Amino acid sequence: MNREIKAIIFDLDGVLCFTDKYHYQAWKALADELGIYFDEKINNRLRGVSRKDSLEIILERSDKQYTQEEKEQFTEKKNALYRQLLHDMSPKDASEEVRRTLLELKQRGYKLAIGSSSKNTQFIINQIDIASYFDAVADGNDITYSKPDPEVFLKAAAKLGISPEQCAVVEDADAGIKAAKAGDMLAFALGGDAQYSDIKDVELTDFADLLNYL
Ligand code: BG6
Ligand code: MG
Repeated sequence: MNREIKAIIFDLDGVLCFTDKYHYQAWKALADELGIYFDEKINNRLRGVSRKDSLEIILERSDKQYTQEEKEQFTEKKNALYRQLLHDMSPKDASEEVRRTLLELKQRGYKLAIGSSSKNTQFIINQIDIASYFDAVADGNDITYSKPDPEVFLKAAAKLGISPEQCAVVEDADAGIKAAKAGDMLAFALGGDAQYSDIKDVELTDFADLLNYL
């Protein structure tokens, strides 16, 4: 790699922990209630996308027009169910592999941050007890535009005080890889639909594979 990387910004859902399965369950329950078809493939398009924009993607399959008020009720309902599922999370939900890799990267001198579209980021960080690994967190509460816009990663870089071209991003979402590249950052793809991206820089085999590149 011909650039000097000083910081790594991690996506949360689907990279540091597997909340993506809870997002799916909660959206699926809402879609079933509304009689709208929803499956894992459509769910892949929701990775990295804000709650509001996710609902719009789900409603593409509906012939009904819903008011703004109804849409707000739907996102609130989904989030309430999602938060219930998050209550079951514990420190065990951040794997030993993730913890060991983050610690090693810190020891190698990298600054570490989280860059997530989720407004539940702090709650999840507390549930799985990973705050101590990170120098900064930028999340859905800090931004106007969600991925593929680079805003959340640029906010994370600014919080770290590192220029974007010296940052690497780790993502499971195609929208997240687009956001990283739009922000002039190095993009590592890990699973999800990120692995199929044409513009990713590196495809990781697993989380610890990062150590082979940094
Ligand atoms: C992202 C997830 O991290 O956060 C998306 O990949 C989700 O699927 C988005 O829609 C917003 O999350 P939340 O917790 O604010 O509803
Ligand atoms: Mg993700």
